[in-house]
Amino acid sequence: MRSSTALAVASVLASGASAENYLGFNSGSTFPDKSAKFKKDFKAEFETAQNLVNAPGTFNAVRLYTNVQAYSKDDPIEAFEAAIETNTKLLLGIWTSETPDINNDVNALKKAVTKYGTKFTDLVIGISIGSEDLYRTSETGIKNKAGPGNGPKEIVAFINDYKKAFSGTALGAVPVGHVDTWDVWVNGTNKPVIDAVDWVGVDEYPYYENGKGNNIKNSGYLFDRALDATVAAVGGKPVWVTETGWPSSGPAWDLAETGVENAKYYWQEIGCRKLFNKVPTFWYNLRDSNPDNKQQFAITKNLSTTPLFDLTCPTTFDTPTTTAGAPGATNTSVSPNSGSSGGSSGGSSGTQSGPNGGGSTTGGAASPSSSSAAGPGKVSSQQAGSVFALVAALFAALL
Ligand SMILES: *[C@@H]1O[C@H](CO)[C@@H](O)[C@H](O)[C@H]1NC(C)=O
Ligand SMILES: *[C@@H]1O[C@H](CO)[C@@H](O)[C@H](O)[C@H]1NC(C)=O
Ligand SMILES: *[C@@H]1O[C@H](CO)[C@@H](O)[C@H](O)[C@H]1NC(C)=O
Repeated sequence: MRSSTALAVASVLASGASAENYLGFNSGSTFPDKSAKFKKDFKAEFETAQNLVNAPGTFNAVRLYTNVQAYSKDDPIEAFEAAIETNTKLLLGIWTSETPDINNDVNALKKAVTKYGTKFTDLVIGISIGSEDLYRTSETGIKNKAGPGNGPKEIVAFINDYKKAFSGTALGAVPVGHVDTWDVWVNGTNKPVIDAVDWVGVDEYPYYENGKGNNIKNSGYLFDRALDATVAAVGGKPVWVTETGWPSSGPAWDLAETGVENAKYYWQEIGCRKLFNKVPTFWYNLRDSNPDNKQQFAITKNLSTTPLFDLTCPTTFDTPTTTAGAPGATNTSVSPNSGSSGGSSGGSSGTQSGPNGGGSTTGGAASPSSSSAAGPGKVSSQQAGSVFALVAALFAALL
């Protein structure tokens, strides 16, 4: 099992190598006070990202959660113009929860193509149809009150809607994916989504894995196990790491202590050792945007190009290259076949509520913003959902 998983990992990473190993951050459409970001705000982010001191590469990609500009119905998000002016690659997102259709996102994208042409489309490296929708409708997501999501049938239908809308256009050639937490990908019921996408986006946060020895020194092991399980489950589709990070401040989560030193350790052990220039990676995050998180994930304050810690990558690492026998780890390997049972056990043990739960371990509201739907506001639900979602998901699969 281990060697076959290792082979699967190698083969997926190899096939993914034909694509560029993008380096980027995530960017919501609104600020912590839920006011809209405009072009100048996105541009400031993209310029900082590209000029980070001692970065292990150029962070010239960004993952967005919607094509729709906040405060509008279906105008293109101004991040597009900022990306054009800064030559920033775009991993687009379409919001697929709390909506009967994806018309606003599709319309915004069509308007952008008309307005900017190839200056825009040449920057688009991929599109995710949905974000953590399947997590929110999983047993764990429901238990954690993660907010409205959608099932695999609906996600596949939205993927087909997108393909139909852009078939034969420049965006028709863009690889289509879906982003979700890793336990979602090992749940066999979601296989139709795997079959429908060109690549798989996975959000992983060892910080939230309470009950699993989630001290910072074990983060590399926990991360690897979740990534290996995802890779093994997706049948050779390229895996992109669409969110990961460790908070630099805020309360502890079980054994996981926040702090700048730990955020730096995580950057090195997960980012440098495993991801940067090896796997398409969208770090969480350049700056914070969820006001309900008690933890801060941003690596910069006020978009300074000098981050909170030195981004220089070391040449040696603590985490063993094989996950077998990692400290504090169980030897249970999570496989596609064990996914559903892992998920249900996670659900029963899902005591964490995520960053938005205010540190409660009794499963309070996972994301206040998840219940505020509709329009661009739905984007903020997505942002909030992203971080906390991984929580229960990770536990679930690890049990
Ligand atoms: C597995 O996925 C299906 C479809 O997304 C979901 O309804 C179900 O709750 C998931 N299983 C668990 C244990 O979460
Ligand atoms: C960030 O900006 C705010 C508001 O301008 C300021 O009060 C704060 O001191 C700044 N923080 C840093 C670390 O520069
Ligand atoms: C995992 O642990 C169990 C119980 O300690 C042991 O019986 C089993 O052989 C171990 N499996 C592997 C693959 O190490």
